[in-house]
Amino acid sequence: MKLLDGKALSIQIKEEIKAEVEAIKASGGKVPHLAAVLVGEDPASQSYVRSKVRSCETCGFESTLIRRPSDISESELLEIVHGLNRDHAIDGFIVQLPLPGHIDESKINLAIDHRKDVDGFHPVNVGRMAQGLDSYLPATPFGILQMIKRNEIETSGKRCVVLGRSNIVGTPISILLSRKAYPGNCTVTLTHSRTADIKAELLRADIIIAAIGIPHFVKGSMVKEGAVVIDVGINRVDDSSRPRGYRLVGDVDFDEVAPKCSYITPVPGGVGPMTVTSLLMNTLRAARNEVYPD
Ligand code: GUN
Repeated sequence: MKLLDGKALSIQIKEEIKAEVEAIKASGGKVPHLAAVLVGEDPASQSYVRSKVRSCETCGFESTLIRRPSDISESELLEIVHGLNRDHAIDGFIVQLPLPGHIDESKINLAIDHRKDVDGFHPVNVGRMAQGLDSYLPATPFGILQMIKRNEIETSGKRCVVLGRSNIVGTPISILLSRKAYPGNCTVTLTHSRTADIKAELLRADIIIAAIGIPHFVKGSMVKEGAVVIDVGINRVDDSSRPRGYRLVGDVDFDEVAPKCSYITPVPGGVGPMTVTSLLMNTLRAARNEVYPD
């Protein structure tokens, strides 16, 4: 079993990004500038956004954090998005999800200029991704692809089972791994809450992507010998022995599953850090106008 160390890989990629930013600065080019909009006080969202801003600093990016209370109106949030769309200093921006219930997430998503949509959630970017055209890839799937690629894991012809059909992870990673590319060329099964027999599907999988948001959902008895297991889950479970009163666990029961795997990602330290790094890669591409040249 080989551990897919997302933390180490993300440090390495951030070093590469930092070197590129230094080269941009030396040649008088535009330093990448990411903006993040954070609504409300959700602890997990606050922690993710903090990590995004900190990583910008590590890589020499400029960053702007816009914080608003959870009772912000939809129209006020739309105004912020329109302002960021117009602001030439900002190369790319994200609106951290989930948003409070009174705000229509898809309305906000549609208002974001797709050329600044470094989350890759806008339908223009999703559509381009589905057709194999260049686009901003959503950060978590992009991070998973990087891990597969940099560890030279074979994907062609493999059976891949994705757990969960979210717009952020499950649906895009299933599209990406079925594309005619490397990583890709998989036979992908996208499973969800209405799938008849998830265990039977998982037992056929050469590659499992678990993005279901249920702690320790995937047990040892559900995994084939030699499978590659990518755990996207970051679930907080109560743990009074920890200073914070909780610990983070994945969607995979690591202790049971790891001995059966060829490769597995730990939680924490697996997909999570790669997600942040991928957002920086998208922002660097945005600053260079690579995806949508003027
Ligand atoms: N919430 C959970 N993951 C993400 C992400 O990748 N982007 C945004 N904007 N919100 C999220």
